[in-house]
Amino acid sequence: MANRGEPRWTASTLDDGGHSADVIVVGAGITGLTTAVLLARAGKDVLVVEARTVGACATGNTTAKLSLLQGTQLTSVQAKHSKKVARAYVEGNREGMEWVLNHCETNGIPVQREDAYTYAQSQRGVPSARLELKACEAAGLPVEWADDADVPFPYHGGVRLANQAQFDPMPFLDSLAAELLRRGGRLVERTRVRRVSLLGKGPRVYVTDATRREVELQADKLVLATGTPILDRGGYFARVKPSRSYCLAFKVPGSITRPMMLSTDSPTRSVRYAPTPDGEMLIVGGAGHTVGRKKSPSQALEELTSWAREHYPGAEQTHFWSAQDYTPIDSLPYVGPILPNSESIYIATGFNKWGMTNGPAAALALSSRILGGRMDWADAFASWSRHEITGLPTALQANLEVGFYLPRGWITPATRIARRSPTDEGGVVSGPPWHLQARSRINGTEKQVSPVCPHLGGIVNWNDADQAWECPLHGSRFAPDGTVLEGPATRDLTPC
Ligand SMILES: Cc1cc2nc3c(=O)[nH]c(=O)nc-3n(C[C@H](O)[C@H](O)[C@H](O)COP(=O)(O)OP(=O)(O)OC[C@H]3O[C@@H](n4cnc5c(N)ncnc54)[C@H](O)[C@@H]3O)c2cc1C
Ligand code: FES
Repeated sequence: MANRGEPRWTASTLDDGGHSADVIVVGAGITGLTTAVLLARAGKDVLVVEARTVGACATGNTTAKLSLLQGTQLTSVQAKHSKKVARAYVEGNREGMEWVLNHCETNGIPVQREDAYTYAQSQRGVPSARLELKACEAAGLPVEWADDADVPFPYHGGVRLANQAQFDPMPFLDSLAAELLRRGGRLVERTRVRRVSLLGKGPRVYVTDATRREVELQADKLVLATGTPILDRGGYFARVKPSRSYCLAFKVPGSITRPMMLSTDSPTRSVRYAPTPDGEMLIVGGAGHTVGRKKSPSQALEELTSWAREHYPGAEQTHFWSAQDYTPIDSLPYVGPILPNSESIYIATGFNKWGMTNGPAAALALSSRILGGRMDWADAFASWSRHEITGLPTALQANLEVGFYLPRGWITPATRIARRSPTDEGGVVSGPPWHLQARSRINGTEKQVSPVCPHLGGIVNWNDADQAWECPLHGSRFAPDGTVLEGPATRDLTPC
């Protein structure tokens, strides 16, 4: 749904300006590009390396609400940390949001100001909406309880925060990329970082470009703005949970819902409108699941579609897309050095589907740290040393689940082979543990690859909504031909 019109800039090649930079930023989503622009403004020589294209992962496929009311996020932060930490979290998000809004205003990028709601769609959801009200008040947000809202679907009361914002993130990324290049920075697309070595002066970054050429790059500092960090150092793959969800756009007859709505009770309903050249569209989001662990995401998607059609009679679906983001075990993002006391590699992850404000906040925190400064609220985003202990029960649970899915993936495929005819569309993993195969068939085109995830050996599952392979351990995703799409894996599934 995000506007992927012609960019106003021309991407660099790896040979433009040599193979070194002051700072290499990996990932051209909102976090990476904002960090790159901030550093370029300060005079740093910055090279951005993007595996796919600008905005290809979460940022280009988000619902892009810019809001300090974030579902029940503040309830979780306050339950695990102090009110002071929650206030610092809000402060970081406020600065991130203001940075985006200022950039949009200066560069003529459209933004719509609307109220945000965290609402109960049944009586069951009221207590958590009430708790969020208290948490927001304690954090100093000017929220109020709203018994009614102008929406055509079930509404049992909710928290309202007036005058938040929504936008299309693609023109925003486009403008950041243009500014970066204007300031002498470089941006290389279709180039994937495969590994990083710390031997020598600064990080050495090994990439493969669009022509499969392998190139070694050198930087003083490296920022991994890759959604989840692609390096295992720091064990972030075990400190975040990957969650995929889906968005549908509809043309709706009559008036459209104006406020940005997010339910507290499940199944999650996220609603906003979007102005487009074809008129205003309704965007409905939900059907979320841990990556690789849902048997048939397309069924949950059908349920979401029916819900939209029931409450917006005559709604005509025009678009469908999906994306994933990472939920941290202790409810706060991880932003900072990849390892304690290391000042050469930085990460930013764990935005829990609120990266439109957390991503720019991370960029402000990382760029100021690299430039020798510090944001007052940065401790709430620290990658090490804080409150980690509060996330231990969640970490234990998440890693027990990983421990369950690892052997299950290796053992169950042998039982699946008989249930499928060779002409069935879709994907299936089959065979004995010593010869597993992931076979897919889409519009009659068959592909066969090894289902063993190159990250840490999970066995991938088929996502029938996205038509892609997904690893249930830490969320790596692969195209039907095995090409790595996203997640901590940096290699493709091998042919077999
Ligand atoms: C369905 C959905 C709805 C959401 N709605 C909202 C919302 O309404 N409001 C909100 O605030 N947030 C929302 N979010 C969250 C928000 O979209 C994300 O937190 C944010 O976009 C993350 O941005 P990022 O730049 O950190 O990551 P990404 O946008 O994912 O960028 C990471 C980039 O790194 C690249 N990369 C990865 N590995 C490599 C490699 N090895 N080499 C080179 N490049 C690599 C990827 O290709 C990608 O382009 C939503 C998320 C989802 C999934
Ligand atoms: S993503 Fe970690 S094993 Fe697959």
